[in-house]
Amino acid sequence: MGNYLNKERAMAMETFQIIQNGDDYLLPVYNRQKIVLMRGQGAHVYDSERVVYLDFFSGIAVNALGQAYPEVVNAIIEEAKKLGHVSNVYYNEPNVRLAKLLCDISFAQKVFFCNSGTEAVEAAIKLARKHFRREGKDKFEIISFYHSFHGRTYGSISATGQVKYQEGLEPLLPGIKFATFNNIESVKGLINDKTAAVLIEPVQCEGGIQPADPKFVKELRELTREKGVLLILDEVQTGIGRTGKMWAYEHYGIEPDMMASAKALGGGLPMGALMVTNQVSHGFKPGDHASTFGGNPIVSAAAIANIETIIGKDLLAVAAKNGTILKQKLEGVVKEFPQLFNEVRGIGMVLGMEMSRKAASMVSQCVKQGLLVGSAHENVLRFTPPLIINEADIDQAIDKLRKAAAEELKTA
Ligand SMILES: Cc1ncc(COP(=O)(O)O)c(C=O)c1O
Repeated sequence: MGNYLNKERAMAMETFQIIQNGDDYLLPVYNRQKIVLMRGQGAHVYDSERVVYLDFFSGIAVNALGQAYPEVVNAIIEEAKKLGHVSNVYYNEPNVRLAKLLCDISFAQKVFFCNSGTEAVEAAIKLARKHFRREGKDKFEIISFYHSFHGRTYGSISATGQVKYQEGLEPLLPGIKFATFNNIESVKGLINDKTAAVLIEPVQCEGGIQPADPKFVKELRELTREKGVLLILDEVQTGIGRTGKMWAYEHYGIEPDMMASAKALGGGLPMGALMVTNQVSHGFKPGDHASTFGGNPIVSAAAIANIETIIGKDLLAVAAKNGTILKQKLEGVVKEFPQLFNEVRGIGMVLGMEMSRKAASMVSQCVKQGLLVGSAHENVLRFTPPLIINEADIDQAIDKLRKAAAEELKTA
């Protein structure tokens, strides 16, 4: 018993020390939960005090296959033994294979690789402008949407339709306008002969899990074609199976001219991609854009294993089915706790519960119950579980969520 207590105390001390060092040495740009995650398996992660959590956040919609998926781990190890990193002034085989795979499973005909979502959006904005300049046209304006989120680099943050992310960073990139989401008249009012592109998320995720209306998306595609304007989809969060299809645009029966991908793309390793049509690709020539690490062989090998597993194990169908089940059960929780929750929104495995108060405290209550979830747009509880979860995981998550809600009700 004494030994056991000593061990517990040592673990608690170690946790305290890591958190203390984190607060001392990391720039304080995150509000972190006071836990230290050490390892994971599938949809479960373990902290430094051996507490197990059911992970319905997936590192913000990254770990499509959960933690330590054998095929992805093997791909990383095998490639790391062969080739760690090479410059993009040479070809590397996994990267070329991945580019072909991405084109085979999408509208795209050419791919540019980078390391994050914001870089993929940045590349899209640059290519849109270059494309028209190469055609001798003075079209450079980008139309984005209120409540959108596109990343933290200057181009992407300038195109993000939420002032809270931009405050204090001015001057922002000029030439960006904002339309009202799901309102085609608002877009029509902004399009002119200077418009290069419309940039949109099929589901506004950081904006509170707001799916685009199918009629609006169809009209937007027709309008952009008619006006000679490019349609850029930001599928950083919705892509790679998150919505129950490989890409969210497949729900809408349209195809974009460009698409930004990242998050789940690299199988847990950092990777972003800008995927485009042949026609648009001519805007970039050698030297116009680059990334030192983009398309790194190890990350490419992980991405291939990730995507081939999602397809091979039919995880799109699983995500669609389990996403529907999770949504229904979350709706049950809304009914049970009407004082806390208003409604459930989302498609497939990207779901949000709108709360009648800020969601931060509820996120912490869930952590205390052993459930990792996120928040979005302050008052939305966000669920982005790995695509591999099963019905038992869903039931367990709902049980933890109900307990967390009961605790949250006790607070003001
Ligand atoms: C839709 C969307 N675009 C872009 C980004 C930025 O991605 P990253 O953090 O990888 O730069 C995010 C991140 O949450 C996102 O949700």
